[in-house]
Amino acid sequence: MLPYEILIVDDEKLIRWSLSQALEKEGYHVLTAEDGEQGLALVKEEDPDLVILDVKLPGLDGLQVLEKIREFNPGVVVIMLTAFDALEIAVGAMKLGAYDYIHKPYELEKVQVCIKNALETVKLKKEVQQLQEEQSSRYGFKNIIGQTENMRQVFETVRLVARSDTTTVLLQGESGTGKDLIAKAIHYQSSRRDHPFMEIDCTSLPESLAESELFGHEKGAFTDAKVQKKGLFELANGGTVLLDEIGDMPLGIQSKLLRILEERTCKRVGGVRDIKVDVRVIAATHVDLEKAVTAGKFREDLYYRLKVIPIYIPPLRERRDDIPLLAKYFVHIYSKEFKKKVKGLSAETIQLLLEYDWPGNVRELRNVVERAIILGNEDWIMPDQLPREIFAKTSESAREEFFRLPGAGVNLEEVEKALIAQALSRTLGNQIQAAKLLGISRDTLRYRMKKYNLGEEEVVRSHEEPEGDSLAGFAI
Ligand SMILES: Nc1ncnc2c1ncn2[C@@H]1O[C@H](COP(=O)(O)OP(=O)(O)OP(=O)(O)O)[C@@H](O)[C@H]1O
Ligand SMILES: [Mg+2]
Repeated sequence: MLPYEILIVDDEKLIRWSLSQALEKEGYHVLTAEDGEQGLALVKEEDPDLVILDVKLPGLDGLQVLEKIREFNPGVVVIMLTAFDALEIAVGAMKLGAYDYIHKPYELEKVQVCIKNALETVKLKKEVQQLQEEQSSRYGFKNIIGQTENMRQVFETVRLVARSDTTTVLLQGESGTGKDLIAKAIHYQSSRRDHPFMEIDCTSLPESLAESELFGHEKGAFTDAKVQKKGLFELANGGTVLLDEIGDMPLGIQSKLLRILEERTCKRVGGVRDIKVDVRVIAATHVDLEKAVTAGKFREDLYYRLKVIPIYIPPLRERRDDIPLLAKYFVHIYSKEFKKKVKGLSAETIQLLLEYDWPGNVRELRNVVERAIILGNEDWIMPDQLPREIFAKTSESAREEFFRLPGAGVNLEEVEKALIAQALSRTLGNQIQAAKLLGISRDTLRYRMKKYNLGEEEVVRSHEEPEGDSLAGFAI
């Protein structure tokens, strides 16, 4: 880590000099300014971590400088230097956001302790900021993959919703379609990002606990309520609450949720006071809420309140064009994570992924790629690295397709050439293995490679382009 940078603003040369000496000895990088203007210029240019600011300065006084610093850099920590007889000024400075003050004349040791504490705060602030930035980029739109028309529409709504920070959102989609991911993107790309994102799974919430979990309780509200407790909505104040599997929310709690959405207040269990809560509610579900309403399991008024902005995330089988894109994205992520040098997926693998129905949606695809990368040792993910249900089922139907003679007939030599090229491609040009796959001897393979003019170069090229579909349709 770079040394902390400290700016000393004082018109007394001796103080600037003695403080600089002492602080530099401790490894800090020190800047000095003899008046407010100079100090402000340095704050702008150098963005120091900490400013030691004298109250009495020629020109702009310390308080004015402090105000200006806070205007354009509210994050910087400021310690005021003040004379004994100007205590009330120091108090005023604290109100303006100074971190602490030191009396003049000062004891160097005390100054050092004060600076150390202040820098601890700086460190913490930086860590929090870094964490927030990480979260924000981790849950950024760029990590949500999809190019099909139906996903484009989803992304467009998500962007709009992130910008307007109050609307309630209802996310609907099968398990594994990305509801969680999108809820987090909405939060971390909205102006609420610096406040908490809290989620609760309504499925695992027994009715007896739900109310106190969501809205909190007062001390003594029930036998186990030994102390007062804030609920999820209060804790998430200013941020976002994701109510996952809202369809499972007990009916009794649904009316209280409606109250929060309509009036933006709630009451703790056993409490009488209305507590103001400012949260955005995102509700997610994989069931059809309209049906739940008809079945009397879900309040109709709440359903309409939640449905202000409905976002439906289509299952993966309804956006097959996203499959190769997502698969490649996960290859990138997991080969990095597991330190493997996997380049991608072979054309046949992609074909198999495209034909599969993905009942577990993107989550299932992610797991399939992760597994292939952990278990495989090849440059490209090959069909035999896929789970049996994908490999066997689709290859069976492919085989059936393949062995059926089309009405217009075929050119047998073309078929043979394509199969040989595929076998060589799959085995990265290894003729012994390719011959095995084709059920012929190596000599026969060589003879036919020559006959069809299939050189090594061609084999490697077809392998380097795993999505090329020149050979597709002749699956082995
Ligand atoms: N469009 C996408 N781009 C990249 N990753 C995605 C996408 N959609 C889903 N994922 C990934 O798939 C996994 C499952 O997604 P997520 O947990 O958001 O699904 P869900 O709809 O909330 O599922 P469930 O209903 O089971 O809670 C996560 O690892 C997520 O990051
Ligand atoms: Mg989820």
